[in-house]
Amino acid sequence: MNPSASPRTFHVKSFGCQMNVYDGARMAELLEAQGLSAAEGGEADLVVLNTCHIREKAAEKVYSEIGRLQRDDGSKPMIAVAGCVAQAEGGEIARRAPSVGVVVGPQAYHRLPELVAKAAGGVTAIDTDMPAEPKFGALPARRRQAPSAFLTVQEGCDKFCTYCVVPYTRGAEVSRPWAQVMDEARALIDMGAREITLLGQNVNAWRGEDEAGRSQGLDGLIRALDRLPGLERIRYTTSHPNDVEEGLVRAHGEVGKLMPYLHLPVQSGSDRILKAMNRSHDSGSYLRVIERFRSARPDIAISGDFIVGFPGETDEDFEATLRIVDATGYAQAYSFKYSPRPGTPAATMDGHVPAAVAGERLQRLQALLNQQQLAFNQASVGQRTNVLLERAGKHPGQLVGKSPWLQSVHLETQAAIGDLVDVEILSAGPNSLAGAEAVKQAA
Ligand code: SAH
Ligand code: SF4
Ligand code: F3S
Repeated sequence: MNPSASPRTFHVKSFGCQMNVYDGARMAELLEAQGLSAAEGGEADLVVLNTCHIREKAAEKVYSEIGRLQRDDGSKPMIAVAGCVAQAEGGEIARRAPSVGVVVGPQAYHRLPELVAKAAGGVTAIDTDMPAEPKFGALPARRRQAPSAFLTVQEGCDKFCTYCVVPYTRGAEVSRPWAQVMDEARALIDMGAREITLLGQNVNAWRGEDEAGRSQGLDGLIRALDRLPGLERIRYTTSHPNDVEEGLVRAHGEVGKLMPYLHLPVQSGSDRILKAMNRSHDSGSYLRVIERFRSARPDIAISGDFIVGFPGETDEDFEATLRIVDATGYAQAYSFKYSPRPGTPAATMDGHVPAAVAGERLQRLQALLNQQQLAFNQASVGQRTNVLLERAGKHPGQLVGKSPWLQSVHLETQAAIGDLVDVEILSAGPNSLAGAEAVKQAA
């Protein structure tokens, strides 16, 4: 790595989950606070690749991305690899791709400015510490915000599902303190956020003490946010079936701003596979949790994650996954082919499922999930609902927003981004709804 001028412009590209996107936003704010300004990818002096290690395909993207950053004259921007690949591979990245100047893990990115300065001096800077002093306190105040904001409240994971890298790349479960979360929420609302999504790999394991020193769970935090003027909607993700407290279930029936949506991954419907995955729940306990949420909030939309082709998965196991999908009825879902990850226990398990078999199972599962998603969307046609407008649509005068059930809704409107409007749903496709602004009733 050669010495280079200190960068004056930057570009952050995020590849991972919502927490990774949140980290990307905070890194951008940090660089702006240092006087750098944002630029397009190809032109920036510093490109931060904020990576994801969850599946092999995601992790490999970083190397093709590094190759692509070469300019016509052969020069390259300074490259910083951040995120979960940085944590997992550390110095190996700089050995494999010598043009990388900075490698920084997800718990150390508050030190990005020092690392960039070091790299500008010609020294490859690597920091994959998981410092005891939390990074959040060292980050500058929030600077910009769209109508819908992410707010990480819980980091890390202690669950150690046998296929998953997150406990290794993000470290142990830590909850951010109550006051820090509330301050950040207020700052986001001051900057125009009308919806806040609380984030954590196990967000429902969040615990803290409120201003009065009382112990609170996630529902306590949600109830406190509900009282903040200017905030209209609260969401949270991702939840684990084993950490569902009664207070959170009840909140769905009682807290006006809490949206009727629950992302609750099950991964498989086979109890044998769930055991091998170390999920610590079975299909029955999962369905009972869903039932509790539905009794508190009958219209709640359920979303999930699935893995097919886990080592040892038989046709029968897979049929059990299709059955739990049938029994649950999903509004939305993400499904993946199992990807062996280095260092995880499942990677060395017997019973590797051939790629073709896993591919076929994935297709069958996705066909069923798509069918459910379409049916869920079609049930909205003719209904009236509110929509938070988030961005411009493809056509002039068109805006796109989200329904309470997280469906994308397209409509033509005079209203502005950030407005909450009443919409009549006119038609539905598999991925979005089309609507028209409802005429206001005279009082
Ligand atoms: N903490 C969340 C999600 C973590 S990662 C939870 O426990 O639900 C998001 C999703 O990626 C997981 O739910 C799982 O479905 C998928 N995933 C994780 N590791 C994987 C792997 N090795 N191969 C394929 N999919 C994986
Ligand atoms: Fe990974 Fe399991 Fe933790 Fe989710 S709960 S992050 S799948 S180890
Ligand atoms: Fe990926 Fe790390 Fe998120 S591995 S899914 S970016 S926690």
